[in-house]
Amino acid sequence: MSIVIKEKENKINFSQVLRSPLISRQESGILMAFLLKISLEVLLTHSETEIRPAVYKRFKLLEAKRLKNWPIAYLTGVKEFYGFDFKVSPAVLTPRPETEYMVEEIVEIIKNRGTGSKEHDKSASLKPIIIDLGTGSGAIIISVAKELKRLAPTIYRRAEFLAVDISVPALKMAKNNAAQHKLARKIKFYQGNLLSPFKLNKRDLSQSELIIAANLPYLTPAQIKKSPSISREPFLALDGGSDGLKYYRELFKQLRELFKQLSELPTVGNLRIICEIDESQAKKIKTLTKKYFPHAASEIICDLSGKKRFLFF
Ligand SMILES: C[S@@+](CC[C@H](N)C(=O)[O-])C[C@H]1O[C@@H](n2cnc3c(N)ncnc32)[C@H](O)[C@@H]1O
Repeated sequence: MSIVIKEKENKINFSQVLRSPLISRQESGILMAFLLKISLEVLLTHSETEIRPAVYKRFKLLEAKRLKNWPIAYLTGVKEFYGFDFKVSPAVLTPRPETEYMVEEIVEIIKNRGTGSKEHDKSASLKPIIIDLGTGSGAIIISVAKELKRLAPTIYRRAEFLAVDISVPALKMAKNNAAQHKLARKIKFYQGNLLSPFKLNKRDLSQSELIIAANLPYLTPAQIKKSPSISREPFLALDGGSDGLKYYRELFKQLRELFKQLSELPTVGNLRIICEIDESQAKKIKTLTKKYFPHAASEIICDLSGKKRFLFF
């Protein structure tokens, strides 16, 4: 009897949890909804519902981890990206909302093939090969495939979807997500350094349009050191060498070698590329592009807050 009374005394509800916040109300809500296996909306509209002591104890453990910079997505194991849910773990970077722009852009390019300029007409006859370099959780390639399947099913059927990561645990997560989204057979995953897993010959290259999404590690060691919020994410997903451009430099070299097989260097028609960068790198990556692809008309694109975050050509 006394035990029952004690339990009753210990019972609290979510409104009470919010009265002494250590983390933001939004984050408390996400964690509690995750523990209660209900949606955040349901939790917020039933915030007087009692929370069992065992659940409250687990909540406090997660809250303590959050205070030690664990991303919320690692605590719940899920991150929403482009309106889809992706499993995540400390083996992969948690996909960021600004990266959704890459999905939008690629889907637009592919959907609009064959409309507009002569160059675009040329690309319409080519087979689209979409490559996600540094796929991590697989968020980019999976979102592109899902969107194309919905919006341009004929092109989707013709297209190839390839994804690469150097990290074996990241690839495992990406494959898991592809299976979850029923794309396990459509997307091919490769382990390796950038484009090295592919053997593309002259025929492949002249009959295909390579559309490359590259969100490669681009931070400098100094930037990583002064950002506690990313301290729990894989170093391998963040560190881009002394100027942050180590991987983009290597990718451009690999691409130039690959396209040497063709008589002319690629322009629109055989190669489209979109890379995520840090805003401080815009000028330098433009110069790199000019060096490796002198004929490409490259553009720097800003995110919604006006920061220069993407290179596109
Ligand atoms: C910034 S994360 C991007 C993850 C994911 N594409 C996203 O947008 O959420 C970079 C990814 O590149 C991978 N990576 C690092 N070096 C690589 C290399 N040399 N070749 C292929 N992938 C690499 C990392 O393991 C990591 O998953």
